[in-house]
Amino acid sequence: CGIVGYTGFQDAYDIVINGLRRLEYRGYDSAGIVLENENKKLEVEKTKGKVEDLVSISEGLRGKAKIGMGHTRWATHGVPSDRNSHPHLSNNGKIAIVHNGIIENYDTIKTMLVEKGFTFKSETDTEVLVNLIQYFMELNPEIDFPTAVRYALNEVYGAYAITVLHEDYPGVLVVGRLGSPLAIGIGDKEYFIASDASPFVEFTKEAIYLEEGHMATISLETGVDIRTINENSKIEPEIQQLKLSLEQIEKGGYEHFMLKEIFEQPKSIHDTMRGRLLVGEGIIKMAGIWDHIEKFKNANRIIIIACGTSWHAGLIGEYLIEEYGRIPVEVEYASEFRYRNPIITDRDVVIAISQSGETADTMAALKLAKEKGAFIYGICNVVDSSIARITDAGSYTHAGPEIGVASTKAFTAQLTILTLIAFKLGKHNGNLGNADFMSLIAELDAIPKKVEDVLSSTHEQIQEIAKDFVNATNFLYLGRGYNYPAALEGALKLKEISYIHAEGYPAAEMKHGPIALIDENMPIVIIAPKKGHYDKIVSNVQEIKARKGKVIAVVNKGDRQVSEMADYVIEIPETSECFSPIVASVPLQLLAYYIAVYRGANVDQPRNLAKSVTVE
Ligand code: G6P
Repeated sequence: CGIVGYTGFQDAYDIVINGLRRLEYRGYDSAGIVLENENKKLEVEKTKGKVEDLVSISEGLRGKAKIGMGHTRWATHGVPSDRNSHPHLSNNGKIAIVHNGIIENYDTIKTMLVEKGFTFKSETDTEVLVNLIQYFMELNPEIDFPTAVRYALNEVYGAYAITVLHEDYPGVLVVGRLGSPLAIGIGDKEYFIASDASPFVEFTKEAIYLEEGHMATISLETGVDIRTINENSKIEPEIQQLKLSLEQIEKGGYEHFMLKEIFEQPKSIHDTMRGRLLVGEGIIKMAGIWDHIEKFKNANRIIIIACGTSWHAGLIGEYLIEEYGRIPVEVEYASEFRYRNPIITDRDVVIAISQSGETADTMAALKLAKEKGAFIYGICNVVDSSIARITDAGSYTHAGPEIGVASTKAFTAQLTILTLIAFKLGKHNGNLGNADFMSLIAELDAIPKKVEDVLSSTHEQIQEIAKDFVNATNFLYLGRGYNYPAALEGALKLKEISYIHAEGYPAAEMKHGPIALIDENMPIVIIAPKKGHYDKIVSNVQEIKARKGKVIAVVNKGDRQVSEMADYVIEIPETSECFSPIVASVPLQLLAYYIAVYRGANVDQPRNLAKSVTVE
């Protein structure tokens, strides 16, 4: 979600709306605005849909206020709807809040508030928080508004960035942050608040990035007063000079959403593990699995169904779950599964993987599996999506909104979830011994850092490599073991956005067909990390070079044998084999991206494709 706030001398409506447009990449299923008008009354407009939908219903607010705030939403609790859109108002109508994040214990607090007579209009966790603020103000009439916000924040667990307005405290914005970002722009007689600096960069270069666990009270009269949320200790603000220019910030400074999403992967992988991978305690916490552990334990087999990139993640899931969980796994295209009268029983666990959670084929296949009595589990990125709602249980990937049509960060987040599931099952059923488990989870914990290293060490080099292949008409992608599906995914990325024909193949199968295609014009991307049948891959590269194919090799740092033969060498850090598809996919995404960019293609909206395919 994206948050914008403003107090100053300009028209708050325009500042908030323009700010929301800039933040729309953070979520765009609903949008809303609240202004404090000249009579000190709050005026709210909100709607399901995009910022432009909000504009069409709210233009009457233009010119009415100098203070206000807005929100563009990516749903977590509650489906996208007018009711669930932010801002949310407290029961007495005096307090308005916009929130980015998740309040995990909202249910307990809601129960308490309902007992005290509070009512709720939405299904959101946010409405609980704003009513908790009202509750504290009524309970302790002597405390002021910022103190009540502080009391409330001390009661909630989870992640948040919030901005709150109170009718009885005109001109005051209270903000707080834990886990979700919030920046305060310091202008001349004006202040800005936003999830990132993009909404205010043309007005000021000075900003305070609110730290974890801090809150601030902001008004033109008193300036910015920062406190710790737990102890109310005063904090000296650290003002930073923004280096951003207006041009850079579109799409968060990236030329395309796809590139931004590729670069977000250290964070998205980390976010997917957050709260689940507790390395210090040696546990993987996944309620969706744990609450139904008997189903998994007694399963005859696991069937993974998905489409597109998510299906590739499923193939890697098969390697992971069979190796560590020792449960038989089958992976099927959802569209094939549903039309072939599959044998399914109540001892089967069916896992659907879907970024959007809306893909019609996957949805239909799941319904069929459910009818036949299987236990159905969802791995979705979009919270409250249709698949997430019909499944018996599931795990969200928490990669954040993915806007580029070619999936990148959602894919690596899916691999992260599948890895967690495999390790958790293996640990539980005793197939993964404690020492191995501990060392694998420590390694998993370090994967975001490795992905970050790959991004920085290969980014420039891949731009150079891409230039040499702008006119290619075909590509082969090869890998073995865990990296065979990674090769399929690398080929799909190139196809989707550059329109160059590309095929992924298990490296050993090359000699049974594709080798006939190899000549000096055939580029072959080969994934060859040390762990994972390296010697066999060396032989495959020899076979390619004997036929003059052009080899682009993805190898581990310090590799010799493959590197000596390859025409282009891309180095990635060494990992256990099961993690290598995550790390190896990153340079392949960059390669596809840059080849497509140099060919002048629209990488974010490739022709004929859609982000979410809701027809069968
Ligand atoms: C579409 C998208 C692909 C995606 C596939 C499955 O074809 O263009 O990027 O992999 O659907 O989508 P899902 O949302 O179910 O993961």
